[in-house]
Amino acid sequence: MQATAISKRTSAFYKDVMKGLRSSPKFLNSKYFYDERGDELFQQIMGCDEYYLTNCEMEILKTQSADIVATIFASENNFDVIELGAGDCSKSVYLLRQVSRRNKNFTFFPIDISSHVIDLIEEDLPKKVRDLNIKGLNGEYIEMLKKANQFSHKRKLILFMGSNIGNMNYGQSISFCKEVRSCLQPGDYLLIGFDLKKDPQIILNAYNDKKGITREFNLNLLRRINRELNADFTIENFKHFPVYNPESGECKSYLVSKYKQKVSIGDTEIIEFNENETIHTEISTKYSVDQINEIADLTGFETIEHFYDSKNWFVDVLWQCR
Ligand code: TRP
Repeated sequence: MQATAISKRTSAFYKDVMKGLRSSPKFLNSKYFYDERGDELFQQIMGCDEYYLTNCEMEILKTQSADIVATIFASENNFDVIELGAGDCSKSVYLLRQVSRRNKNFTFFPIDISSHVIDLIEEDLPKKVRDLNIKGLNGEYIEMLKKANQFSHKRKLILFMGSNIGNMNYGQSISFCKEVRSCLQPGDYLLIGFDLKKDPQIILNAYNDKKGITREFNLNLLRRINRELNADFTIENFKHFPVYNPESGECKSYLVSKYKQKVSIGDTEIIEFNENETIHTEISTKYSVDQINEIADLTGFETIEHFYDSKNWFVDVLWQCR
């Protein structure tokens, strides 16, 4: 019992939660959305009518994977594939099949923060891509990318799809791309997905679906803290509140405290909330194509090609390391 209490207090999750809730304004790191229940809810979000991102990118991968892979094979025919934030691989599977048709000799390294997700992929994906060599890596992107480098000595194609890069602000995305670049060699490829600026109402609706699944997803973070860190958040006392700023392209989700209230975390910590006090939980940044090209320029990549969906709402860009 005591051992559990101590390990709770020393876990990264506990430390990050305490740091965020003791800050002003309060925040929680979005990577903690994805426990088993969070994974499930996110799958449901991806199925919502309002959440266009997945459908747009799915269309790109379904209809243009052959083109994307052909573009790469025009100059390179032997490379491994590494996916950052692999999720259920429902998009990358189209790309992997195309790679596999041309060269069976590659290894796929899916990286994900959720160990549950990695287990599922390793079990499921070989049924969908014949003769697939797969090695899942559970952990943080950069750390696991370095680890993948120890296993793979070939040219690389890195996949960073979904709105993963969106979950950083502009400055963070620059630092992140530089960090990824520093793990790669000239000639390596990066296929990276960006959600594009569009009618602001369409964007806001994507983070506020009518069925309330996104609301549940956001609130599940408090449930997870209750479950894993022995806290006593009263979930009904918090409200899901997304906003979109069409000028900065930043879509932010908050949890707003409906009342003045106290919450205890573990056996020792009390966090106080004022009425209407916010916890920032997520950012999703939307870009213009010019901004995306600028990021490539600033971080050591050359833009090879843009692959858009038919509405031009989302783009997967193929970059090559300079
Ligand atoms: N991070 C993803 C995105 O920006 C997932 C997501 C969708 C999300 N809706 C959300 C995260 C609401 C937090 C709150 O699209």
